[in-house]
Amino acid sequence: MTISVTKLTDAIGAEIGDVDLSNPLAADTVADIRQALLDHCVIFFRDQELSDDDLMRIGRYFGELQPLPPHRQFPGLYPEILVVEKKPEDVINFGWEWHSDTSHLPVPSLGSILYAIEVPKTGGDTMFANQYLAYDTLPDEMKEKLAGMKAVHANGRIHNTLKNNRIPEQGEEVESATYSDAWSTHPIVRTHPETGRKALYVNLTHTESIEGMSVAESQDLLHYLYEHSTQDAFTCRFKWRKGSVTFWDNRSCQHAALNDYPGEYRLMHRVQVKGTPPF
Ligand SMILES: [Fe+2]
Repeated sequence: MTISVTKLTDAIGAEIGDVDLSNPLAADTVADIRQALLDHCVIFFRDQELSDDDLMRIGRYFGELQPLPPHRQFPGLYPEILVVEKKPEDVINFGWEWHSDTSHLPVPSLGSILYAIEVPKTGGDTMFANQYLAYDTLPDEMKEKLAGMKAVHANGRIHNTLKNNRIPEQGEEVESATYSDAWSTHPIVRTHPETGRKALYVNLTHTESIEGMSVAESQDLLHYLYEHSTQDAFTCRFKWRKGSVTFWDNRSCQHAALNDYPGEYRLMHRVQVKGTPPF
C-alpha cells in the first residue's frame, strides 16, 4: 500500500494518510485510494492545501467531472466547482438532511470531493451512513418486497426549502413539478457497479414516491427505509478542519451536513465525479 488507512468506525469511513494531494499522484496511489473508497464508502484526508485546479485534477483520477447546471455555477470559477457556503445570517445549510448527491438526475454522480477552506470554531460536522449495511440488515421479507421496485427522485424538497426558508415536514407534499429542474426513477436497491454489492438507494432529500404509488401512499414504506438506513450503527461523524478533504461514494452511502453553528461562517469547494445509471 502506498497510503495509510485508519477506520473511523467499523461501519464506515477511513482517514487516509501519507499522501499530499497537491502533487500529481502516481497510478498505484490512485488505485489504493480508489480501493479505500470502495472498502469504506467515504475517505478523509487532513491538512491539504489545494487550488481549484488541484481539486479538479484529483476528481479526474476517478472519472469525468460532472459540470454544474448554469444556476449553480459561480462567476469567475470553473463550471465544475460547486461553492458550499454558509454565511452567519443563513438559517438553512447546504445538504442538511440525509441524502445521496444528485439522485434526482438520470445519471447521479459517482462521488463528491469536498475541500474545507473555512470552518466554524466548532460544529459543522458531516454524518455518513453505509447503505450496504442498510440493505444487508433488512428483514428477508423486506428484501423480497423491494426487489424490482423503483422510486421517483426529484429536487422539489430542496427548492421548496430554499424558496420558503422552511424545511418541509417529513412526508409533506411539495410542489416538485413546479420547482424541480429534474427527476428520475431509480431502483430502490441498487447494485454497486464496482463492488457488485447491493445497497439501499432512497433518501429523504430527493426520493419523492415509489413508482406506481402516490406521494402519500409511499410515505410509510419510505420513512421506514429512511429511519432504517441512517441508524447510528451504520454511521460515522467527520469533524472538519481547514484543509480537510472528504471523498464519498454516492452509490454506497448517504450523508448529512449538521446545522449546528448558527452565526458562523463555513466555506467549502466541491467537485462531482460523473457516475453511471443506477441498476
Ligand atoms: Fe450532499
